[in-house]
Amino acid sequence: MDMQHLNPDRSHQAPIFMQLYQRYRDAINTGKLQPGDRVPSVRSLASELNLARGTVERAYQMLTSEGYFLARGPAGTVISPQLQGLAVPASGATTVSGKTAARAQTVAVGPPRALQLGLPALDAFPRKTWVRLAAQNLRSLDGAAMSYPDAQGHAPLRRAIAAYLGVSRGIACSHEQIFVTAGYRSALELICRTLLKPGATGWYEDPGYIFARQFLQYAGMRLVPVPVDEEGLNVATGQERDAKARFAVVTPTHQSPLGMAMSLPRRLQLLDWASRARAWIIEDDYDSEFRYHGQPLAPLKSLDRDGRVLYTGTFSKALFPGLGLAYLVVPVSQVERFRAAADTKGGAGSLHLQATVAAFMEQGHFARHLRKMRALYAARRGYLVDALLQQFDGRLHVQSQAGGIHLLAKLTRRESDRSLAEAARADGLAIAALSQWQIRRSGYGGLLMGFANVTDPTMASTLTKRLQAALRSG
Ligand SMILES: Cc1ncc(COP(=O)(O)O)c(C=O)c1O
Repeated sequence: MDMQHLNPDRSHQAPIFMQLYQRYRDAINTGKLQPGDRVPSVRSLASELNLARGTVERAYQMLTSEGYFLARGPAGTVISPQLQGLAVPASGATTVSGKTAARAQTVAVGPPRALQLGLPALDAFPRKTWVRLAAQNLRSLDGAAMSYPDAQGHAPLRRAIAAYLGVSRGIACSHEQIFVTAGYRSALELICRTLLKPGATGWYEDPGYIFARQFLQYAGMRLVPVPVDEEGLNVATGQERDAKARFAVVTPTHQSPLGMAMSLPRRLQLLDWASRARAWIIEDDYDSEFRYHGQPLAPLKSLDRDGRVLYTGTFSKALFPGLGLAYLVVPVSQVERFRAAADTKGGAGSLHLQATVAAFMEQGHFARHLRKMRALYAARRGYLVDALLQQFDGRLHVQSQAGGIHLLAKLTRRESDRSLAEAARADGLAIAALSQWQIRRSGYGGLLMGFANVTDPTMASTLTKRLQAALRSG
């Protein structure tokens, strides 16, 4: 590629290193640069474009840490061969509308970005095993596998999930109670269609998972914000605000995003309210697989004597989000209704992928992978926490969470977490603002970030230095 194509525009508002970064991304996207292609050294590009070396270096560092570039030491830097066959979205800096750009900041789509929330360690996924199982599956493709799949989900996968939940989460359920869905929101959609009338009111944790909140509002539900404190959802406040609510959505194992576990008294109080009010509890157990110290409390589902809990889990963290698979466990009394709704709604996605996940679980790879990931995440969490403490002593208070794959760094003074997160995003760091997860603003803001792909202390230090520089300008 002609290096002059990279020539930045000095009158442009974006800093020059950012323009360079975006131009490289665009060149990769449009195929001008192909995986494996060499890129010029920092020194020669700086001299060709008449730029300071530090400017080029900064752009190269971003491209490397985000996986676009692969630095091979003395052998030079190349476009990452791992991008082969993947569609890399354009940076879109000059083409997307304001609205679309705002969406891109909150919805995690496209290639992995540095510190991206909710993304598991993609480098540590056992791809070889996965590809082998997927290939075996395809080779044995028969008539049954090629016709319409069961709308409730592939039975062997449901059996594997039931076995996993029994052993790992103490949830006694049969595969008849399990519905495989295309992600968590699809599980919510099935619940709304089956059990809730449009306009039904429900308690929603405040702060709480922004995407499920948006989905439920879009589906016509009326959400009553209920604050969370160190014991999780405040059930008494929920009762004061709307004792007759039809449902409550909770993340009891690891509150999203604050990270505390709901205490046992609160769990029992919530179950008691639901039984008396004949309300539904939607238990979102999205990242319970990862815990670094202490024993997890029993899920609400395992304490659910009156059949009020709808339990959801996802494969997005335990495997990878590109799979688009989650599951829902419904009370025995509701199986028929859910079955009828699932039949009208249609299938749970590709049978082939479901069968591959089933084989992965049946053959013990799932349990092994989770065991490895627990140790890996404990280390990666440590890298990021240490680096943040070193760089931000005083300005950010990093909360140590017992589990999950994200961190919350709380601001220690009144400043806008949205502008700080925006400044960080402008520098390619996929940071989210705590206040965007709140329904009612309260307290100081915070920054949410994922640590699963922070592979070593050097990367942690580079990223936090970049964050510090971005926050200075934010
Ligand atoms: C709180 C919470 N619930 C559920 C999910 C799972 O959603 P999905 O299955 O759509 O990946 C996530 C994923 O990030 C989450 O953060």
